[in-house]
Amino acid sequence: MSEPRKLYIKSFGCQMNVYDSHRMADSLAAGYRETDRPDGADLVVLNTCHIRARAAEKIYSELGRIKQLKTAAEKEGRQMLVAVAGCVAQAEGEEIIRRAPVVDLVIGPQSIHRLPDLVARAGAGAAIVETEFPPEDKFDHLAPPSLAATRARGVTAFVTVQEGCDKFCTFCVVPYTRGSESSRPVAKVVEEIEHLAAAGVAEVSLIGQNVNAYHGEGPDGRPWSLAQLIERIAGKTDIVRIRYMTSHPRDMGEDLIAAHRDIAKLMPFLHLPIQSGSDRVLAAMNRRHGRGEYLDLIARVRAARPDIALSSDFIVGFPGETEEDFAATINLVEQASFAQAFSFKYSPRPGTPAAEMDEQIPEAVKTERLARLQAVLERQRQAFNAALLGRALEVLFEKPGRLPGQIVGRSPYLQPVQVMAPAHGIGTLARVEITAIGTNSLFGEPIDPLPAYATTPRALATAEGA
Ligand code: 5AD
Ligand code: SF4
Repeated sequence: MSEPRKLYIKSFGCQMNVYDSHRMADSLAAGYRETDRPDGADLVVLNTCHIRARAAEKIYSELGRIKQLKTAAEKEGRQMLVAVAGCVAQAEGEEIIRRAPVVDLVIGPQSIHRLPDLVARAGAGAAIVETEFPPEDKFDHLAPPSLAATRARGVTAFVTVQEGCDKFCTFCVVPYTRGSESSRPVAKVVEEIEHLAAAGVAEVSLIGQNVNAYHGEGPDGRPWSLAQLIERIAGKTDIVRIRYMTSHPRDMGEDLIAAHRDIAKLMPFLHLPIQSGSDRVLAAMNRRHGRGEYLDLIARVRAARPDIALSSDFIVGFPGETEEDFAATINLVEQASFAQAFSFKYSPRPGTPAAEMDEQIPEAVKTERLARLQAVLERQRQAFNAALLGRALEVLFEKPGRLPGQIVGRSPYLQPVQVMAPAHGIGTLARVEITAIGTNSLFGEPIDPLPAYATTPRALATAEGA
């Protein structure tokens, strides 16, 4: 058999893209082996993000670098194919090839199951653009990962359960790039997770652009909610930890709140974007809820699960945002108290209603507001971490740590926890006493003894030098 060709995939943006990149690698596994360097690759795939202007621009500078590698390959008589996938591909289509003729293939997120065929065609002739929303369901046509590929990816895994969004927030490109909401059937999701568990995956994150709008077909033929899906995964599979993201406040049903109280495997962490603390701005964003509803919602979530850690997304400098509106955001953050959060300057996206609004905010004002907001969020993050000193936390160890002899895992609240322990502990869940708080990690000592020899598939893979 001939040597497999080399595939380099680079993912930008959200976890949905990480998941899609894995599935693209799986579907090409018959002919290609993944490499972590673009030079020498026979196929380069950039899986792109279009959410903010800066994310999209990054792709073109990356393509500039790739062009040099492609020219070098041609000089050596090798062919290097270049594919652009993901949301920039969907949004810009042919424009990408006009701007960057180095690209051989443009493929939207809904067509990734057609990749092997398209790559074969692109290699033989003219550049191809495939950004239609095909009638068939890509999930039914995507090759499952091999056991070895799953093992190599580690002890935690993302599983896309829902895609697309029907909310049409006025700043957001997602409804245009990922299309309308659709959910995978419960049985398909559970089957995928059983395979992951069999390969040693201990934690799954159920992902979707608007994951709590999940309404996949259940075993009874009816649409099931995300809470029902989580309950089924908790009951039927060997997965020990379940997470989900990203959620919209309007879709936070009572049964999902109750799941945080009732399902021990569901981690006490909730990423619930609010974007702004001003009712006026929330209305202009078409978020369909006010600050009062959000505060009431998180109070109910905390009543169900008192130790839950909250996370959020914020946009500063949305068109028309006054100093008073911004003060309302700071005030909301102070009332809500977040364990962590992401915050962004508003970035006008072509084709979205907000990009056309009057009263666009000057860049300098956005920069200054972002700095003020981030200072408050950072203080809250550090206070949340500091409060864990001396506490016992369950940690799922994922990989070797920063220093020799260390391994690192995540707490239920998603913080990295570094522990001095042998690599055999990787893949196991153990209680750890938190003994020090760093800027980005916690440090601790195992309370439960860690295994003396490799027992989990992940520890075995690490021991073999994977
Ligand atoms: N400008 C700035 N931030 C944005 N986000 C989405 N669209 C934009 C935009 N046009 C942010 C939101 C969202 C997160 C994924 O990205 O906060 O929750
Ligand atoms: Fe975008 Fe999220 Fe709003 Fe959907 S709910 S339009 S993905 S910000």
